[in-house]
Amino acid sequence: MSDLNGTAQSTTSDSGEFAALRDQFGRSIEYLRISVTDRCNFRCVYCMPETGMQWLPKADILSYEEITEVVRQLAPLGLRRLRITGGEPTIRPQIHELVRMLRAIPEITDIALSTNGVRLPAIAPLLREAGLDRVNMSVDSLRADRIATIARRDLGFDPVRSATAAHDAGLDPVKLNMVVMRGINDDEVEDLARLTLAHPWHVRFIELMPVGDLRSLTWSHVVPTDELLARLNAIAPLAPSEGPSRGNGPAAYYRWPSAAGTIGVITPMTHTYCASCNRVRLTADGRLRTCLFGDHEVDLRTALRAGEPLEPLFRQALANKPKEHELLQMRIGGLKALSQVGG
Ligand code: 5AD
Ligand code: SF4
Repeated sequence: MSDLNGTAQSTTSDSGEFAALRDQFGRSIEYLRISVTDRCNFRCVYCMPETGMQWLPKADILSYEEITEVVRQLAPLGLRRLRITGGEPTIRPQIHELVRMLRAIPEITDIALSTNGVRLPAIAPLLREAGLDRVNMSVDSLRADRIATIARRDLGFDPVRSATAAHDAGLDPVKLNMVVMRGINDDEVEDLARLTLAHPWHVRFIELMPVGDLRSLTWSHVVPTDELLARLNAIAPLAPSEGPSRGNGPAAYYRWPSAAGTIGVITPMTHTYCASCNRVRLTADGRLRTCLFGDHEVDLRTALRAGEPLEPLFRQALANKPKEHELLQMRIGGLKALSQVGG
């Protein structure tokens, strides 16, 4: 809980337009992650407990019209880029229609989707046609049996097929995210990295965050990124790379000589990214969360459904955006699954 009191400031330029809204630490907030459901067709071991998840009641979940209205009201304050996430966003019916509605908001320059990839072969063209720019998908293994073990569901997911479908539909960049877990899938790091030799994809390795109610996963499953990069450098030297043209996340990128794609690393356990954090989250039930960890959130849904303006609530939320999270101190008891807050 933050004990800091501040006020979010936005300045009016000479032309009368709002400059980017900044929080009390000067970080401008132009990026919103939108969770459209807390449910998922997978039960990944690092994300959710297998049983005992309490799903949100349908009536509490924002409609596509309500989500669009939130973005429409935040856009004049500096919001420019969106990511649609979950749970698993593609299990919500007609998710491409939400993309179409968000695309029509003139200030929005970039719309991305985070998905487990299962439905991409079926809907990637629809998403692209509706105006989606790019996609991140989870690829924790290339082996069918292991995917089913990690996801605790066998849906016949073929990651290479899904990534190919996304690329062929014109989504760009295509990013493949692997949560690396020692003794569970870390022997596939090289195989995943080798995908970048032939494919123009961005394969990113994410340090496991053993947070919440994961039961079987602990700090002993975390593979530090330095160790992983040393293994990849032993195959062939990696050169630092610019990474994909779109997306301003916390990843650092590398490339093997003449590879078509890049290799990225995201290190939530060995670094914090808080100082440059430019994101806020909208939960599926309409709360604005300003930090993934901890209880910094403001309810937008009540005001939204009462037809009241959201701007004062947005300012209130930003004023309380914490300086940094407490993950590394392991003071994060309340969070059961990242799927509840949109990743
Ligand atoms: N540790 C690291 N990454 C996680 N994700 C979810 N839970 C965790 C965790 N415990 C991220 C992964 C996954 C996406 C949906 O959320 O990147 O691919
Ligand atoms: Fe679903 Fe993604 Fe969580 Fe896996 S990580 S259970 S795909 S929300």
